[in-house]
Amino acid sequence: NAAAAGAIAILVANNADGPLQGVTVGEGATIPTGGISKADGDTLFGKNGVSTTVDLRFHTEDKPSRNLIAETKTGRKNNVVMVGSHLDSVDEGPGINDNGSGSAALLETALQLGASPKVSNAVRFAWWGAEELGLVGSTKYVQSLSFDQQLDIALYLNFDMIASPNSGYFVYDGDNSDGVGAGEGPYGSTQIEAALAGFLNETGTPTEGTDFDGRSDYGEFIANGIPAGGIFTGAEGVKTAAQAEKWGGQAGVAYDKCYHSKCDNLGNIDRVALDRNADAIAWVTATYAISTEDINGVPPK
Ligand code: PHE
Ligand code: ZN
Ligand code: ZN
Repeated sequence: NAAAAGAIAILVANNADGPLQGVTVGEGATIPTGGISKADGDTLFGKNGVSTTVDLRFHTEDKPSRNLIAETKTGRKNNVVMVGSHLDSVDEGPGINDNGSGSAALLETALQLGASPKVSNAVRFAWWGAEELGLVGSTKYVQSLSFDQQLDIALYLNFDMIASPNSGYFVYDGDNSDGVGAGEGPYGSTQIEAALAGFLNETGTPTEGTDFDGRSDYGEFIANGIPAGGIFTGAEGVKTAAQAEKWGGQAGVAYDKCYHSKCDNLGNIDRVALDRNADAIAWVTATYAISTEDINGVPPK
């Protein structure tokens, strides 16, 4: 993922004395993908999503992989707002929509937030490694935390594919309100869904829910009871006529026809979707940095 990796290099380089005076950058745990803790055929998720099976048939070499973690120096450390995007791509393509898009939006949010005044809640950015090998980086990260450290995370927001060329506007369905597919997220996930959908809707973008089906890095967070949410613009799924009516684009065509393939390059980005979703990401991150009251507050009926 050359584009996003370059951007991360800039983030690290700037950290010493650059515009990111509010952010500390550190490496997450090294993930020995060669010695993956999961074996071929293992089930990754059973609890909150459709189970995903590890497939190591194409695992041809052992390489270390890393998460990159950056956290604001200000804000409560026991009520952390955590936001993440995976930085790796598949071997078959450059991974610009999947997931240079989410990584870049998160980086810009970090750059803008880093030079801002103090925040109330610490914001912890994660650029995950080895997502495409079975959510390895994020899973290892959550499992590396003590129970108390997990409790210190107020919520997790996931951004994996936010600028698909035939874009849908999906927000993770916190309460499984459509009653179909995978189940609800932990308590608080509904409020996160409402915040993200509310921002997009009020700025003129209608949204739909998408299930926590275990296909991205929120998996280990929700499996451990951490409220989660996020945005997704669609992968191999096909846009319906009703969706094309509402969102534009082409009915009967995949949201991302270059998903996991060679043409997932810079031409594979819907810049309107990137703009809208990057705004939503920045807004929701900054809002929760100020207060997570709506998540921790009055229980829904
Ligand atoms: N995690 C998938 C990938 O990186 C993409 C995806 C994200 C699919 C969210 C479904 C839901 O390939
Ligand atoms: Zn992918
Ligand atoms: Zn992805």
